[in-house]
Amino acid sequence: SDPGLVDRARAAKAALGDRLFVLGHHYQRDEVIEFADVTGDSFKLAKEAAARPDAEYVVFCGVHFMAESADILTADTQTVVLPDLAAGCSMADMAAIDQVEECWDELVEAGVADATVPVTYMNSSAAIKAFTGRHGGTICTSSNAKTALTWALEQAGEGGKILFLPDQHLGRNTYARDLGRPLEDCVVWDPHRPMGGLTPDQLRDATMVLWRGHCSVHGRFSVEAVEAARREVPDVRVIVHPECRHEVVELADEVGSTEKIIKTIAAAPAGTAWAVGTELNLVRRLAAEFPEQRIVFLEKNVCYCSTMNRIDLPHLVWALESLVEGRVVNAIRVDPDVAHHARVALDRMLALPG
Ligand code: 13P
Ligand code: SF4
Repeated sequence: SDPGLVDRARAAKAALGDRLFVLGHHYQRDEVIEFADVTGDSFKLAKEAAARPDAEYVVFCGVHFMAESADILTADTQTVVLPDLAAGCSMADMAAIDQVEECWDELVEAGVADATVPVTYMNSSAAIKAFTGRHGGTICTSSNAKTALTWALEQAGEGGKILFLPDQHLGRNTYARDLGRPLEDCVVWDPHRPMGGLTPDQLRDATMVLWRGHCSVHGRFSVEAVEAARREVPDVRVIVHPECRHEVVELADEVGSTEKIIKTIAAAPAGTAWAVGTELNLVRRLAAEFPEQRIVFLEKNVCYCSTMNRIDLPHLVWALESLVEGRVVNAIRVDPDVAHHARVALDRMLALPG
């Protein structure tokens, strides 16, 4: 990356000192990760943001929903900055609050809303998190989805239901793979069709109502790619993120959040071969950090998360230098009422065991 920009980023960080805390998600570019005080998956970063009450500015190198969660979890005196406001998440955009409210109205109409507990993936807008908080549900991330779902099923009770938002794959994988429950208990709610495309009986009989959302990056990993890796790489271990499709996850040797993928590979003996099904910035970094292992990208076609990649060094330098000059750019401020209810759901997650 441009040495002039690297120097400017260093100088701005030094000038801000302890007033600044920079968080970096594992999918960020190398040029940005270099300046992160802490790197992590979305769960770790949410906890880190909450644990730094002294930092006046939290610069979040990640995507919009992560910065919103950081704003909700930090004190009112702290400011969260997202270096490029266009860094969204296509999955989070697949569930709009009015669509979710409509779905809930149908559950009320069907007489099952009282026994339904929403479980909402971190990858969602603050408004959806607030909806979750108002209806007794919890947030989950890919690292605690099993614990969150177990808690929610207990809350829902015998014959109860889960409304899982917005990633159908994480919901299905957690229910069927991690909890070993029948796939037939799951139905998919399509927000673009009347009644979600379901009959009243289907809705009533289902235990898991999965929102029809997915990740445009992880949805591209295929069964064929797993088979090809097994053919082409001797003794390969396949490790994928739980946002991958169920058929892919079923064929993998290991499944986990970005943090788990890193830890698993770090703990493996030298000479282990891995085909990794997650975002390419992370896979490239893993290959560079663990040269004693053989690390290949699971799918041949390039698979960056285009919105994660929007945070680049020029945007980071701009955000940091603005702070040095006393100007806050791209502050993320969640409406206080929304933040209050979203916090209820986030706190439920943070109180889960483990
Ligand atoms: P993690 O929870 O593993 O950080 O994943 C977040 C994400 O956006 C994956 O696509
Ligand atoms: Fe969203 Fe997928 Fe990008 Fe993660 S990888 S931020 S889920 S689009």
